[in-house]
Amino acid sequence: MSSFPVLRPRRLRLNANIRRMVRETTLSVDNLIATLFIRPGQGVQRPIASMPGHAQFSVDTAVREAETLAEMGIPAVLLFGIPHQKDAVGSENYAPDGIIPQAIRAIKAAVPELVVISDMCFCEYTDHGHCGLINTLDSPLYNPQLPEHYLLNDETLELLGRASVVHAEAGADIIAPSGMIDGMVGAIRQELDSAGYTHTAIMSYAAKFASGFYGPFRDAAESPPSFGDRSQYQMDPANTREAIKEVELDVAEGADILMVKPALPYLDIVQRLRDRFDRPLAAYQVSGEYSMIKAAAAQGWLDEQRVAMESLFAIRRAGADMIITYFAKDVVHWLR
Ligand code: PBG
Repeated sequence: MSSFPVLRPRRLRLNANIRRMVRETTLSVDNLIATLFIRPGQGVQRPIASMPGHAQFSVDTAVREAETLAEMGIPAVLLFGIPHQKDAVGSENYAPDGIIPQAIRAIKAAVPELVVISDMCFCEYTDHGHCGLINTLDSPLYNPQLPEHYLLNDETLELLGRASVVHAEAGADIIAPSGMIDGMVGAIRQELDSAGYTHTAIMSYAAKFASGFYGPFRDAAESPPSFGDRSQYQMDPANTREAIKEVELDVAEGADILMVKPALPYLDIVQRLRDRFDRPLAAYQVSGEYSMIKAAAAQGWLDEQRVAMESLFAIRRAGADMIITYFAKDVVHWLR
């Protein structure tokens, strides 16, 4: 076996073209999924303070933004809704004229080729900010056998199925359940199929951790929980085996695409899932990952483009096929 001085790895780092030739991982526009936050109104483009460069859009301005994304070659957009009104059951999530069904119809009418992914969760729609129905004393669903403020799992499944059919009917190509509710993928698959939406895919937030990195998003989606946190349904950041179990369940229930979230702090999970499962794998570079880079760059402490691209390459290197990222539009410019 030859070694130094015969072998000198630096030979293959001599210039940009040599480095390009031996680069092992690629990042292309094909890998990117952009996001849009939709709120009621007309002509709205309201900047999100905690996520510089991002805004909440009304349906009309969201359509223009979706056209821009499609023109840039970005294949897909993930939609989040800020409803007209929040209530205990998050009814706007399954209202056919709710904010997201409206947005889906308008975007699909204007840019039919853009893949529309609907984030399927109740936290943006409930007045308590949790991802489903809650066991409270004043609720008609109150169950004294369960703890107070417990997320009612199976009752929430029913509503997730119902809302998914409404979003599919509006034209969503992919439903992305993000609530970490047990059985959510199976329940949604069954409802979609029995309503005739056998072609609508499911991208499951399969391994979603209870993360502080979602901080800026809760500002963007106006969805912080009014009591407690999400640790009773999202995963403990310390767990790996449990992530594999979560994904096994979602695979068995029919998830077409698997997702890990957040991305950079959980690259070991991405890699393990890539090695173990043959379904397409997505990673979500979440709001905190984005805003940390933005904030440090604004201070002049980090080079935004360099650090963002390095992070995205790391996520690809770990094995993600697709990356949901708030840098999507920037990446298209940087790649050019
Ligand atoms: C909804 C949802 C959240 C995010 C995506 N979907 C918030 C949460 O779970 O608390 C976070 C995304 C981000 O931080 O960029 N359940």
